[in-house]
Amino acid sequence: MIPIKNDLLLRALRKETVERPPVWMMRQAGRYLPDYLKLKAKYDFFTRVQTPELACAITLQPIEQVGVDAAIIFSDILVIPQAMGLEVLMEEGKGPSLPKVIETQKDIDALITDGAEDSLRYVYDALSLTKRELNGRVPLIGFAGAPWTILCYMVEGKGSKTWEKAKQFAYTQPLLAHQLLQKITQITISYLKLQARAGADTVQVFDSWAGSLSPADFKIFAQPYLLQIADALKDEVPVILFPKGSWYALKELSESSAAGIGIDWCIAPEFARQLTNNKIVLQGNFDPAKLLAPIPEIKKAVKEMIDAFGVQNYIANLGHGITPNIPVDHARAFVDAVKEYRQD
Ligand code: CP3
Repeated sequence: MIPIKNDLLLRALRKETVERPPVWMMRQAGRYLPDYLKLKAKYDFFTRVQTPELACAITLQPIEQVGVDAAIIFSDILVIPQAMGLEVLMEEGKGPSLPKVIETQKDIDALITDGAEDSLRYVYDALSLTKRELNGRVPLIGFAGAPWTILCYMVEGKGSKTWEKAKQFAYTQPLLAHQLLQKITQITISYLKLQARAGADTVQVFDSWAGSLSPADFKIFAQPYLLQIADALKDEVPVILFPKGSWYALKELSESSAAGIGIDWCIAPEFARQLTNNKIVLQGNFDPAKLLAPIPEIKKAVKEMIDAFGVQNYIANLGHGITPNIPVDHARAFVDAVKEYRQD
């Protein structure tokens, strides 16, 4: 195995002392990068995801062009519904859609479960290839969607602001919802283990729509499955949980087997530290829209963010994915500001 030269992220996840926080950005490989747009013009979305050479090239772009301290494999959380037998379309300007949604017991019974993770060989191949191409420059992050977030898409059939159909399903047919969540959990665990074996140094679980749930419903429909995943992976790789919007769950999640928790910008760093009793590594939480501010403002806000979290037990990141409207030099300013950080 090639030793990792810049291993700040892994050291931070092990709670070792670091000279500065590591920095990466959720959705760092994507549409704000001109070179990504060139590949996007040539190949459709799932071709980019399913071709290891393309996925690898896209994964490396932000390492080389923005200077982040970690690579996150180019893929999508919706490869899991695909592996379970559901069709997923990615329409330009519209986002993902699933023509056939989950409504009944029959729909759940028809999902592929045994060996579903085996059909995602292209992800493992992309990870091994990227690991080779990185040649130890920075760690490689694997990922999956959290069961609740995947259920949201499987039931709703497309993105939503309120996830009313998904919530109606969960609140009116809880037994079916739990069956579905458990099936997704099982596959996700196998999938993440295979990602680790293919070269992922750490994995992040994106619960992007966790915050659509009340604290009580998060405990029923999201938390148990996040904990199962963190427990199952703990001896393989450090796990970062990102339950966006669910600040209320920070205390309990900080007592889980996860190595880190991602938080969004709706919670103050000091309060997040207080809730987690400084027990766990926190990741976040710069408002992605704030990357539109003038560069000196970005740098000032980054410094304030690190002052508030502290250098140790911390991973600098955004509070959600970077959006296509961010100028590349603003993304670079965010990363540079973390690298230049000095305590007064
Ligand atoms: O750099 C990286 O972080 C790796 C790439 C990555 C993508 N999707 C590529 C992508 C990651 C980590 C994801 C995760 C993902 N996908 C999430 C969780 C993160 C989050 O933002 O909450 C979610 C909810 C999805 C589902 C999804 N995929 C949506 C809602 C969309 C359309 C809207 C959007 O954000 O673009 C996608 C498509 C998608 N996935 C694109 C990219 C670069 C854009 C489509 C394209 O470039 O053709």
